[in-house]
Amino acid sequence: MTFFKAENIAINFGGIKAVDGVDFEIAPGTVFTIIGPNGAGKTTVFNLISRIYNPTEGRLIFQDQDITKLPPHDIAGLGIARTFQNIELFEHATVLQNLLLGRHAHRGSNLLTELLFLPSVRRMEVEHRKKAEDVIDFLDLQQYRDTLIVNLPYGARKVVELARALCTEPKLLLLDEPSSGLNTEETEDMAWWIQDIKNDLGITVLMVEHDMSLVNEVSDRVLALNYGRVLATGTAREVQSHPEVVKAYLGG
Ligand SMILES: Nc1ncnc2c1ncn2[C@@H]1O[C@H](COP(=O)(O)OP(=O)(O)O)[C@@H](O)[C@H]1O
Ligand SMILES: [Mg+2]
Repeated sequence: MTFFKAENIAINFGGIKAVDGVDFEIAPGTVFTIIGPNGAGKTTVFNLISRIYNPTEGRLIFQDQDITKLPPHDIAGLGIARTFQNIELFEHATVLQNLLLGRHAHRGSNLLTELLFLPSVRRMEVEHRKKAEDVIDFLDLQQYRDTLIVNLPYGARKVVELARALCTEPKLLLLDEPSSGLNTEETEDMAWWIQDIKNDLGITVLMVEHDMSLVNEVSDRVLALNYGRVLATGTAREVQSHPEVVKAYLGG
């Protein structure tokens, strides 16, 4: 089975080839990391996968299914969740409310059954709550459960964003710069969470990251991108010592 594969994907923005013929495959149960300088096209790859943009070329395969033309909510329904480079949470809602909203956004029952409040909806509600509480326990967020997002320190918000994505019970989790804005200790914690997500929950992770200590610690495979093109794919060590990658980072 093909778990996840990007085949020759490309997109232009007004003449700029933001992503230009990118190929990669992710094995289930692994952490796959995309690195590259600013503007390399990393976030755009995520936006193509979550179907915010349509690729002008290429195909995306998830669990043997061609997802290239599916609408974004179908992608979420298949089990692909993401976090954002700039945190996107409801600031005036609590942690628990954000997690519940996350579940509804992705798995919501339709409005009519919701209004009629059928027993099936009530059952779903109990299930949503249970899942949210499980994730709160898993990521050690109990102390923040009823805190408004605006009142949380930045590091905790990053963990809540991760929690919200986990609440949708993804098979593939996309993390865009999970360590950005975090201090050394918080980055170390983030590395632990990512490893727990892989090892304990069995979720496959596709990550964009610039902190090389985090990349080295958690990645099974690394892809280096520059100007929308793949420079190298391999282990973290192989990719970082690849001459093209060294050149790109030195700005040569
Ligand atoms: N919606 C958009 N419209 C125009 N240009 C964009 C858009 N999104 C990204 N780009 C351009 O595509 C390139 C890659 O951007 P991005 O994927 O955000 O890079 P990275 O995440 O690697 O820093 C950049 O040159 C950026 O300016
Ligand atoms: Mg980016």
